[in-house]
Parts: sequence; C-alpha cells; structure tokens
Amino acid sequence: MTNRATLRILVAALGMLCLPNAFAAPNESQDARPTAAIMLAQTCAGCHGTEGYTRGDALMPLAGLPRAQFIRAMEKFADGTRESTVMGSISRNLSAKEIELMANYFASFPENPPIAKGGKL
Ligand code: HEC
Repeated sequence: MTNRATLRILVAALGMLCLPNAFAAPNESQDARPTAAIMLAQTCAGCHGTEGYTRGDALMPLAGLPRAQFIRAMEKFADGTRESTVMGSISRNLSAKEIELMANYFASFPENPPIAKGGKL
C-alpha cells in the first residue's frame, strides 16, 4: 500500500514536470517518448518487456500496439468489461493522462515481430 502510494506520487510528479512535452503532437517518435512516459512504461516492463518487447512465449508485447487500441484496452480493463487477472487493478490506478503518455510511447515502437498478441479487445 505504502509502496503503491509512493509510486503514484512519483509518477504524478514526473507527469507534471513533463506536461508541456507530453501533450505535444507526436510527429517524431522521440516526441512520443518523454521522460514521464519512459518512467511509466518501466513499471510495465517486468511483464510486458522493456520498451514493450517480449521474448519467447512471455506475455503479450505492447510495442507497436496502436494508440487507440491501447487506450481502449486500458479502459475496458478498468471498467471490468474486459476480464483480467492483474490489469484491472493496474489500469484503475492510472490517470487518463498517464494512459495517454504510455499509449503514445508504446505505439512509437515497431511491432514485436515473432509473437502473436494475446487477448481480445
Ligand atoms: C504483473 C504483470 C503485469 C504488469 C506489471 C503489467 N501487465 Fe499488462 N498485462 C498483464 C496480463 C496478465 C495481461 C492479460 C490480461 C490480464 O490477465 O490481466 C496484460 C494485458 C495488457 C494489455 C492488453 C494487451 C493486448 O494485446 O491486448 C495491455 C494494453 C497492458 N497489459 C498494458 C499494461 C501497462 C500499460 C502496464 C504498466 C502500467 C502493464 N500492462 C503492466 C500483466 C501485467
């Protein structure tokens, strides 16, 4: 509980620091990767791989997931319309701004080539 609260405060603070950058139009891939997005995405890396890439038959990669699809998945996890084990609680603890940052971030990488994405939207 304490760790999660601390992480939320840290993530919120980082998000605020990077606001002007975060909401610029992501024309170039670098614009989609402000520090706040990198920090947020690192909290997903243990399960979804660094920069959204996974190896072997690990969990579904997030790299290259289209922005709208990513946001829709997170919303459905949060409101329970998409079944989940862990993603329900993870998504409910993220703000719309944080999800937006990560949507731009993961969409800015090429798709993970050899592995089929799992789950349904
Ligand atoms: C503890 C492991 C774990 C962590 C950490 C984790 N996820 Fe997940 N993720 C899962 C699992 C498991 C699923 C499949 C749905 C479920 O059972 O919750 C999933 C599914 C997803 C999907 C759907 C992918 C698709 O192709 O349909 C998205 C999007 C996603 N996670 C985003 C994230 C983001 C963003 C973070 C970091 C904020 C994150 N996940 C952190 C385990 C994790």
